Amino acid sequence: MKVIVVGHGAREHAIAAALARSPQEPRIFAYMATPNPGIGRLVETWTEGPLENVEALLRYALAVKPDFVVFGPEVPLAAGAVDALEGKGIPCVGPRRGLARIEADKAFMREFMVKHLRRGYPRWWTFTDLASLETHLRSHPDVVLKPIGLTGGKGVRVMGRQLSGPEEALEYAQMFLEREGMILVEERLEGEEFSLMVFTDGERSLPMPLVQDYKYAREGDTGPMTGGMGSYSCADHLLPFVSREDFETALGIVEEAIARLGEVTGVPYRGVLYGQFIQTESGPKVLEFNARLGDPEAMNVLSLLVSDPLEVFASVAMGDLVEKIGFEHMATVCKYLVPSGYPEAPEVGRPFTLPVEEFAASGIEVYFASVREEAGKYLTTSSRSVALLARASSPEEAKVLLDSFLGTHCPLGLYYRHDIPRVPAN
Ligand code: GLY
Repeated sequence: MKVIVVGHGAREHAIAAALARSPQEPRIFAYMATPNPGIGRLVETWTEGPLENVEALLRYALAVKPDFVVFGPEVPLAAGAVDALEGKGIPCVGPRRGLARIEADKAFMREFMVKHLRRGYPRWWTFTDLASLETHLRSHPDVVLKPIGLTGGKGVRVMGRQLSGPEEALEYAQMFLEREGMILVEERLEGEEFSLMVFTDGERSLPMPLVQDYKYAREGDTGPMTGGMGSYSCADHLLPFVSREDFETALGIVEEAIARLGEVTGVPYRGVLYGQFIQTESGPKVLEFNARLGDPEAMNVLSLLVSDPLEVFASVAMGDLVEKIGFEHMATVCKYLVPSGYPEAPEVGRPFTLPVEEFAASGIEVYFASVREEAGKYLTTSSRSVALLARASSPEEAKVLLDSFLGTHCPLGLYYRHDIPRVPAN
């Protein structure tokens, strides 16, 4: 089989690595906006093109003639890449544009939840002008501001955290009112967050192990938001703060979203739907839906996948999901190594080496994110450099394994969060 992987980060390296493990030995190809050395070593050919350039991706796919295409990031989904490929008879792991709105348009997402799911969301409001927003903020200070469109996971601002008060909130909102004409404001919920992702063919879905990720740049969940600094999962596939009952509640919401989205758009949702939940005193609530695998969560779950990854992805694309998907009962911890100064003032172009064989010999998996490779060395860019993953019987043990190795092998000039994971007590 021939498969094209779309995207160029550690998540897409993990997807390509999973496909490469398949006993069916698929021929793997890639469409990337910037070259990824890890993906480059797994593929037969790859091409470079902007993620939103549907025409360029379609041209590449028509030349490769893949059996199916797997999408990593949300940008091509929102641009209508799946509509274009499926229009030419090429099956995809990833939803069409109308379905991907669940991630790309947060006002649509909340309206959809109110109308079709009727549960699992905070109080929310949308604003199209600063004056009404200001009035609202004076009477509702405990809120979160969310841009409507895609922000690479970096757009959410919490009052009292990244926003010191209404003045700063209004300044932030103005930027998005000018750009998008609207801003979403939500009640601030308290609790631990978790990611629940499912593979789905639109009819049936199968859940992956739960993952908790860490979005803040610095230890103690401080500093600016990033695309994610690390994540963990537990051997029982739940999390210490999510009971079996809460998991079933969250899964019910995700499954109903898939069914209702299919009804509303008239197109089956084929791909991954990822519910970003917060565990509140009144049960799990959806913070966001994402139309793709999480990053770094993809590394946690794909590393545990014991079913044939090619068969799993192919069954999603063909609309005939496998009966069962096996995940190993082990815990995982993933950490990103990022350039010093990331994300505000990353040191770009710093050369480093990575003892990939030594990592592998210690059972640590290496997934390249954003690095340039020149003359046997890697160079940092302004984004996250490399993701590392360790597995053990508990997240605490996986952390010890990863940290002890990083203690001696973390390249100079890169940093990682030592406090990931901080596993909450049961
Ligand atoms: N882990 C956050 C995301 O993938 O959006």
